[in-house]
Amino acid sequence: MPLYDQVMEAVALVRARTPLRPAVALILGSGLGGLANEILDVTAIAYEEIPHFARSTVPGHVGRLLLGTLSGVPVVVMQGRFHLYEGYAPQVLTFPVRVMSALGAHTLLVSNAAGAINPTYRPGDFMLIADHLNLPGLAGANPLLGPNDERLGPRFPPLAKAYDAHLRYLAREVGGAIADLKLHEGIYAMVSGPSFESSAELRFLRTAGADAVGMSTAPEVVVARHMGMRVLGISLLTNMATGVEDENVSHEEVLSVADEASQRFGGLMLGILRGM
Ligand code: HPA
Repeated sequence: MPLYDQVMEAVALVRARTPLRPAVALILGSGLGGLANEILDVTAIAYEEIPHFARSTVPGHVGRLLLGTLSGVPVVVMQGRFHLYEGYAPQVLTFPVRVMSALGAHTLLVSNAAGAINPTYRPGDFMLIADHLNLPGLAGANPLLGPNDERLGPRFPPLAKAYDAHLRYLAREVGGAIADLKLHEGIYAMVSGPSFESSAELRFLRTAGADAVGMSTAPEVVVARHMGMRVLGISLLTNMATGVEDENVSHEEVLSVADEASQRFGGLMLGILRGM
């Protein structure tokens, strides 16, 4: 079945469950799913129920699509996302972004947990994504590989200015008013994972201009831009990833820092939605 028809089937299932027409799509990253509790009049749909959706397999990632209102804005929220390292093709893991766009969302707010390559960053700080290094994408794992359907987007979409400057301005304004919230702006490097980076790899990424490193987001942003969505990306820095030998990161540490930061993250996202 053509991708376009698959998207329409998924849209039909969601529309049969709720009349809500989302304006904004959110992807909640590792340990950041708590914001979902703030959604009013929520309709929750397990990924298993939605045609052509994959299933989430990582601890800390619930697999549900949520529709409701946040800060008065009609939203569709991915509580839990799919990763390349789970074995999903990039075309498969980005399918929900196409569905959220086809449901009517014109803007994507995407979040993730990331390691801090920039030595001036600290765990618990946030980083607005100014641009990305899509290492898997450059190396052949691009979600737009394969036949292109012009009903979804152009064959050769530009990715310059993929991360919307106005939304970043708004995020800085909102973040500046939240106590104890440190908000940087930098370059996010995506790696496939699931192994964390070697020290040499981290030095390589830093030399290449990366400020943070993570295992998600770039494919979703490529597809969101393909669909013509505006994008704001926010990383929560959960650990230092500077290549210093005594740093040892674990998934548990990532989740624990994310849990500690979830209140500030929620305040930031709600404020951004209010300001949009
Ligand atoms: N590397 C890659 N992905 C990550 C990291 C990291 O250090 N921290 C959280 N996600």
